[in-house]
Amino acid sequence: MKELGARPEELEPIEIASRDEITSLQLERMRWSLQHAYDNVPMYKRRFDEKGVTPSDLKTLADLSKFPFTVKDDLRENYPFGLFAVPREQIQRIHASSGTTGKPTVVGYTEKDCDVFADMMARSLRASGVRRGDMVHNAYGYGLFTGGLGAHHGIERLGATVVPVSGGQTQRQVDLINDFKPQAITVTPSYMLNILEEFLRRGLDPRASSLQVGIFGAEPWTNSMRLELEEAFDMHAVDIFGLSEIMGPGVANECVETKDGLHVWEDHFYPEIIDPETLEPVEDGQEGELVFTTLSKEAMPMIRYRTRDLTTLLPGTARSMRRIKKITGRSDDMMILRGVNVFPTQIEEQLFATEGLAPYFQIELYSTETMDAMRVHVEAAGDGVGDADRQSLATALATRIKQQVGISSEVLVGPAGSVARSEGKAKRVVDNR
Ligand code: DLL
Repeated sequence: MKELGARPEELEPIEIASRDEITSLQLERMRWSLQHAYDNVPMYKRRFDEKGVTPSDLKTLADLSKFPFTVKDDLRENYPFGLFAVPREQIQRIHASSGTTGKPTVVGYTEKDCDVFADMMARSLRASGVRRGDMVHNAYGYGLFTGGLGAHHGIERLGATVVPVSGGQTQRQVDLINDFKPQAITVTPSYMLNILEEFLRRGLDPRASSLQVGIFGAEPWTNSMRLELEEAFDMHAVDIFGLSEIMGPGVANECVETKDGLHVWEDHFYPEIIDPETLEPVEDGQEGELVFTTLSKEAMPMIRYRTRDLTTLLPGTARSMRRIKKITGRSDDMMILRGVNVFPTQIEEQLFATEGLAPYFQIELYSTETMDAMRVHVEAAGDGVGDADRQSLATALATRIKQQVGISSEVLVGPAGSVARSEGKAKRVVDNR
């Protein structure tokens, strides 16, 4: 793998500033953001009043805990533009998430917000080892999803060449990678596996491709998946995190030289971790639900937005800004089977630890007369694996899941191609209960 990483002189001063400098900037910006929300968004005014707090009650960063939370339903209830803090005419761009139930959640950006978005995404790419003049194959979906356009503008901002492929048409993805020879790819990790499959199907050596780094996110993925992708393509795999409500991709990103968690770009997004039961903030180093307050967003300030993502805040390393651990999963994706909490990432880990299985999986939840149960659909690696071998692979994975995760499950090893492939975010759980 090629050694990558930004030179110190390429970093913005704030990326390596002292903690004091960072926190004083945060306090100044947080005051502005609370006031902006209070003055311009009726929901915030009502909520703050109900709690008996005003923006001037924020004397220190810790005072943020006096302010009310915001949740996804607040966006739905204010559909489409009720949370905008500026006149609609000042909105430069709109994104939305389809959402599996009910109304989509809509987000907006002023010209300045779009500028910050491009800057943060460029910073994320730089942390990933992408340089001005490199070429980036952008296979995040374009459209209302923030992934495609978000990455696109960051790639341009960095001064790199963007190939705006979007998701899907896997054969063409492989053609373009072979013909254009990009140094980097931005795509969900699950779709990268489909691109890998297409390389192999054609008898092409993915390790001989031009790719030096993949910037993977928009869904939870494990370090086992990282190793699989790095080994398969002889490239670095780094994690990028973000969410539409706060901005889109580029809220936090790993540094390629350390790959030890994702630095939150704390000059624009203030992170907290709360106990999802008591809703009280926990100390750094403890796991809980990630909560964000935007510090500079004009169009749609978010105050203490509950992401539902479970992780831990850690001190900075390659940058001064704090890191989040790789996301375990969303609390919405947590399955509870006979009292044991299970996340899809735990199943992914066991899958990669079981030799002979392909890296695709989907979990089916169903109910029997007496309880909820889990069936894991996987595939044997390679063609021509016989029934007996498939049965023993199934037993091997079920045993691992039992031993390591602590739950009984049925494992079905199907033929190659039997597990549903995704073009964007993978659907890990199908709930048939
Ligand atoms: O997925 C933004 C994005 C695009 C991030 C491209 C990275 C790359 P949403 O569609 O609003 O936005 O979904 C946000 O996706 O709350 C997490 O649950 C999940 N997610 C995003 N990145 C990661 C990641 C985009 N690196 C939701 N690891 C978030 C785990 C992630 N989960």
